[in-house]
Amino acid sequence: MTEIKLKEAINQQQSVDARMADVTEIGIDSIAFSTSRYFLSLKTFAEHRNVDYRKYSEGIGQMKMAIFPPNEDIVSMAVDAAQKAISKIDVTEMNALDLLIFATESSFDLSKSAGIYVHHFLNLIPECRVFDIKQACYSATAALKMAESYVRCHKNSKVLVIGSDIVRYPAGTSGEPTQGGAAVAMIVSEKPRIACLEPFSGVHTLDIADFWRPASENEARFDGKLSAHNYLKSLEYCLKKYKAKVGLKENFDNFIDYSCFHAPFCKMAIKAAHQSFPEKDMGLKESLQYNALIGNSCSASLYVGLISLLDNSKKNLEGKRIGMYSYGSGSVAEYFSIQVAKGYKCTLNFENSNNWKMLEERTEISWEEYEKIQRYCQKKENDISYQPRGRISLTQINDGYREYI
Ligand code: HMG
Repeated sequence: MTEIKLKEAINQQQSVDARMADVTEIGIDSIAFSTSRYFLSLKTFAEHRNVDYRKYSEGIGQMKMAIFPPNEDIVSMAVDAAQKAISKIDVTEMNALDLLIFATESSFDLSKSAGIYVHHFLNLIPECRVFDIKQACYSATAALKMAESYVRCHKNSKVLVIGSDIVRYPAGTSGEPTQGGAAVAMIVSEKPRIACLEPFSGVHTLDIADFWRPASENEARFDGKLSAHNYLKSLEYCLKKYKAKVGLKENFDNFIDYSCFHAPFCKMAIKAAHQSFPEKDMGLKESLQYNALIGNSCSASLYVGLISLLDNSKKNLEGKRIGMYSYGSGSVAEYFSIQVAKGYKCTLNFENSNNWKMLEERTEISWEEYEKIQRYCQKKENDISYQPRGRISLTQINDGYREYI
């Protein structure tokens, strides 16, 4: 680099730093995830669908998929994740938690918010506002950004953001091996202990029929190839806008230290990384370890990736900038960045070992069990004999109304 170019780069970096210093630090103060107790190995899946297993392990980068018995749903999973996230908050600060945003595309009720069940089981204060939000896999990012704005206006408030989804595709379709699900819970506040949200982002919205789920159905309809194409095209657009907002003309690869991408299947995220940062190792391997064992968890997927990176990176990520790409079919996409807080490991410690334990202690189900569970879910029938992940499970659906204990 010539001396002039070097000076220009330094000036640009200083201007970025100055703009960030102007913004009060708001971001993720606590984060945790949960998933089903049951999984199906893609080896079993490949055997029964008569497909070479390497298509899944290498071609799409998946090994297992989380399978949800009928008595486990987006609420029971969300309560488990939220309990873990809240356990990091001082009890005396719980009165400050006055907004809960539940992001999901797996909603079972078109009127009542799934978040109200969570509010009840976590015993949150009555003054807490609660609502659901939807835009396919993008919704948790929308909720996170909304939470940030809310905290900017209500300085002492804390917001609980939940992304909880179960992804089901029709049997025999190309999407079936990418099924899965998880819930992620994040507390957003000032002076965050995990990561600070930065004021730059690039957004892309396009009306496209790549993935949708009619209200009366449990399984998604989709155009797999079109969705993968639009995921990458939107990323290109978002990154261009993000770079323009940051104002860096050069040296962008050095501006971003690590990357997390929405992972409908891990290979999609790997392709996204190759497209946007062909020259650089972005810690992708560490960020995809949990997703490869869970499958697509839609709204939770990007943040499960973030937890995986923070948990599994051997390097100290304090002060590092992570580029985050969120994509929700239909479609809305956003590229934004966060900066990892000092001491984040101490806040994470509680789950660190527990996340691997949670995944390793799951029960593997047989093909016959898988087919039985799929039948239950299609007929919308319950079976309370399955062991729930957390403290609550669905006991019955009475006149269309869900009841849990
Ligand atoms: P497909 O068409 O069955 O697979 O499913 P394929 O033929 O494209 O093969 C996949 C890869 O495996 C290819 O590699 C093959 O070469 C390789 P690539 O060319 O892509 O690098 N392969 C093998 N490798 C090793 N050994 C073998 C072998 N055979 C093949 N023997 C498809 C792919 C994406 C269509 C499918 O996974 C699908 O339909 N998924 C569902 C939709 C989806 O996940 N879309 C992703 C973007 S949209 C999104 O992210 C939003 C979403 O999360 C929903 C929301 O927002 O709510 C889905």
